[in-house]
Amino acid sequence: MDKDLNKLLFERHSIRRYTDQEISPDTIKQILEAGLLAPSSKSARPWQFVVVEDKAMLQALSQCKPFGAKPLAGASLAIAICADPEKSDAWIEDCAVAATLIHVQAAALGVGSCWIQLRGRDNEAGEPAQDTVKSLLGIPDAMQVPVILSLGISAEQRKPVDPDKLMWEKVHIGAWTLGQE
Ligand SMILES: Cc1cc2nc3c(=O)[nH]c(=O)nc-3n(C[C@H](O)[C@H](O)[C@H](O)COP(=O)(O)O)c2cc1C
Repeated sequence: MDKDLNKLLFERHSIRRYTDQEISPDTIKQILEAGLLAPSSKSARPWQFVVVEDKAMLQALSQCKPFGAKPLAGASLAIAICADPEKSDAWIEDCAVAATLIHVQAAALGVGSCWIQLRGRDNEAGEPAQDTVKSLLGIPDAMQVPVILSLGISAEQRKPVDPDKLMWEKVHIGAWTLGQE
């Protein structure tokens, strides 16, 4: 499925419920290509991607924080985005860009996905949610895992964004416009 990017951006949504249909290996490959093609500060490419298809592991990952991680339980696939902070001082931005490109590429290929925030989030025990994910996936201690994406064929019907609802008041032309924020 090849879509006009502007149309795709209006249609894109976070998808949290998925059908049982598997994602084809070729589609998974293209989704991962988007991560590997992501721009990064000084081209340091500090990221690593851990791809998870095992259902029991997806279920376990969905427990990594009390709220907002449930989409992982019903996902066909998860991609944990890891980075070594020693490799770049812009690792957070680099991971966010990679996660965004993966999310948008997935949408372009007819695959729904959702960003599951780990950085700054705690598990049930009040410890970093990342530690749960690192321990489940054997990710080395030195790595950070700011985000994990859940992916699958969408079981949701979402409407495209209405162009009239875009918040143009957030755009300041030439300089900051007082009273516009
Ligand atoms: C930095 C970031 C963190 C997010 N964390 C979560 C999360 O932990 N769980 C979740 O279900 N959705 C999460 N989301 C998805 C947002 O809730 C979603 O993008 C927002 O509600 C707008 O909906 P839309 O993506 O359908 O336009 C996150 C999105 C971003 C960009």
